[in-house]
Amino acid sequence: MEGSISKQFLRLILLVLTINMVINSSSATRPIAASKTSTDFIKKSCSSTTYPTLCFSSLANQASLIQTSPKLLAHAALNVTLSTAKTTSAMMVQLSKSSGMKTREVGAMQDCLEELSDSVYELRRSIAEMGQIDSSNYKLTMSDIQTWVSAALTDETTCSDDFDGKTKNGKVVRERILNISHLTSNALALINRYASLDHA
Ligand SMILES: *[C@@H]1O[C@H](CO)[C@@H](O)[C@H](O)[C@H]1NC(C)=O
Ligand SMILES: *[C@@H]1O[C@H](CO)[C@@H](O)[C@H](O)[C@H]1NC(C)=O
Repeated sequence: MEGSISKQFLRLILLVLTINMVINSSSATRPIAASKTSTDFIKKSCSSTTYPTLCFSSLANQASLIQTSPKLLAHAALNVTLSTAKTTSAMMVQLSKSSGMKTREVGAMQDCLEELSDSVYELRRSIAEMGQIDSSNYKLTMSDIQTWVSAALTDETTCSDDFDGKTKNGKVVRERILNISHLTSNALALINRYASLDHA
């Protein structure tokens, strides 16, 4: 009798162990859970920006890098803005060389390219400073970054104002520049959000 009871007991222990193993092995799917946490964090942070849909769609694919860090989120937003500005700038150089551009358009394109290149410079500066933040220089560096990014936004706005969007090329360029200014505005909002956190 006693032997069969302890056999049953042994089976029970084995069963518990097996269940435990199954549970533990399912924790191998944790990266997915972590990335959902990050995705939720990005969505929530983006909801305080002016263009939340663009914010989320441009940053969600970097969830594993950003995790739930407001600093990395702001940094990633600057990165995306810079790379989009660079791509657009290259596209505009190509466009201004193409035939079929009206003289007036070429002029506007050149002015706009200059403003865009200023904005690329300012975004680069802010990204470089982002990488140098520490507790001793935090306030000053954040305020520098806010100044650089605001300047970038101003340059982009000046640039898109050069295009009324009445011609086909003008319309394409204007849309692209507006997109960059929306990305910049979002990045600034995320930077301000990060700056407002308690870093004591
Ligand atoms: C931003 O871009 C730099 C350079 O490409 C890269 O090293 C860094 O990991 C990026 N940071 C984020 C948060 O995306
Ligand atoms: C705006 O920029 C984002 C990020 O680069 C890009 O995915 C999106 O296609 C752009 N939209 C337009 C209208 O250019």
